Amino acid sequence: MNIDILLGLQWGDEGKGKIVDALSPVYDVVARFQGGPNAGHSLEFNNVKHILHLIPSGIFHKDKLNIIGNGVVIDPAVFRKEAEELGFPVEELIRRLVISTRANLILPTHRILDAAYESHKGNTRIGSTLKGIGPAYTDKTSRNGLRVGDILRDDFLERYREHVNNHLIILKNYDFSFNLEEYEAGWFEGIEMMRRFRLESTEYLVNELAGKGRKILAEGAQGTMLDIDFGSYPYVTSSNTISAGACTGLGISPRMTGEIFGIFKAYCTRVGSGPFPTELYDDTGNALRDVGREFGSTTGRPRRCGWLDLPALRYSIMINGITQLFMTKADVMSSFDTIKVCTSYKTGGKETDRIPFENDIPVEPVYTEMKGWNSDISGIRKYEDLPAPLTDYISFIEKESGIPVTMVSVGPDRKETIFRV
Ligand code: GDP
Ligand code: IMO
Ligand code: MG
Repeated sequence: MNIDILLGLQWGDEGKGKIVDALSPVYDVVARFQGGPNAGHSLEFNNVKHILHLIPSGIFHKDKLNIIGNGVVIDPAVFRKEAEELGFPVEELIRRLVISTRANLILPTHRILDAAYESHKGNTRIGSTLKGIGPAYTDKTSRNGLRVGDILRDDFLERYREHVNNHLIILKNYDFSFNLEEYEAGWFEGIEMMRRFRLESTEYLVNELAGKGRKILAEGAQGTMLDIDFGSYPYVTSSNTISAGACTGLGISPRMTGEIFGIFKAYCTRVGSGPFPTELYDDTGNALRDVGREFGSTTGRPRRCGWLDLPALRYSIMINGITQLFMTKADVMSSFDTIKVCTSYKTGGKETDRIPFENDIPVEPVYTEMKGWNSDISGIRKYEDLPAPLTDYISFIEKESGIPVTMVSVGPDRKETIFRV
């Protein structure tokens, strides 16, 4: 059971990047299993902030192997830019990173299709990051995709043109102007760079390493409430963001998984459209956004903010089989006298703790009010030193969810992390 999984329990941006980086020293391998450059995983150390989109968050630890698994969709242009901006030479990245030949490619026309579909949707748009995620996964499932391994074939260019031509036929139906050449230049430079990397069937590698007793951390992207099956469809992303996704996205058996770490913010945020029962439209919401610097890591969009939603958290814990909870950003709530936490919903005149199937019916949160900690906690490094109202809040979450909170993050830096065990 050498493969642990870390994933988001809310609508993404829970702090996965920071915590994967902080945990990396105890692992040999960090592997991304789904999503693509829609992800923005931030980590901070030595006063520098890095934002990763495709590369796993263990990459800054020089003796660790990082893997981009088959479940990820890769835009070569984004990959190249990211590889060049890491702050260490690409040769070193080539040593630390292996990419699955089975991962699907995001083509320039996937990005254009994403934008065309969204613009056509008008008011019902999903609020996609417009990175081509939906169209790339659509082509994967409809068996029309191009994969990383294809870039090594002699006829890659012909195959590429064939795919692009099919996309151009679809685009003719949309009143949407675009400049394909503009995207293509960077994309082909990215392909050239990717050819220098170890491209292989990483399912063999992961299983061999696990078999030898190496410790592997599977890094999720997005969050459970954005999962294609269990999120607020259609306001979701196009992959399985849940723990089961780690098995299909890396080629491992469920029998090989160990701990399943579920990460959540002490409050909630969401970028893009879709239901968000505890959303705050007032000064409290603005304070969470300002203090928490809640602006998208990938798109810079302001994140919608609200109180912690326990029915959603319990749902995520159930779907993922969470064994340990990690709580981030409690420091952001340091100035509040009182805080609220949603324990159930009222909908159609009835109280329920279940997530409704419909996402267009009014859902009113039922809150419990608690005392705020009202003090700066960012310098605290021991659980026992946290203020009592905060440990009471954590105990309440543990009681309501039945899962222990074993890590509390009190700031964006690697060091601002309190492990309880
Ligand atoms: P991810 O997508 O789950 O990796 O999360 P993001 O990186 O998109 O967003 C989390 C944001 O919160 C980033 O700006 C992090 O630097 C920051 N962050 C992470 N943990 C904490 C924390 O405990 N406190 C504060 N104040 N910021 C945090
Ligand atoms: P990380 O890994 C937050 C959201 C988008 C949009 C919906 C669909 O950083 O937590 P897509 O681009 O997948 O078509 O967008 O999902 N979304 C995210 N929100 N964090 C992310 O990733 C997200 N990736 C996608 O805002 O609502
Ligand atoms: Mg993010």
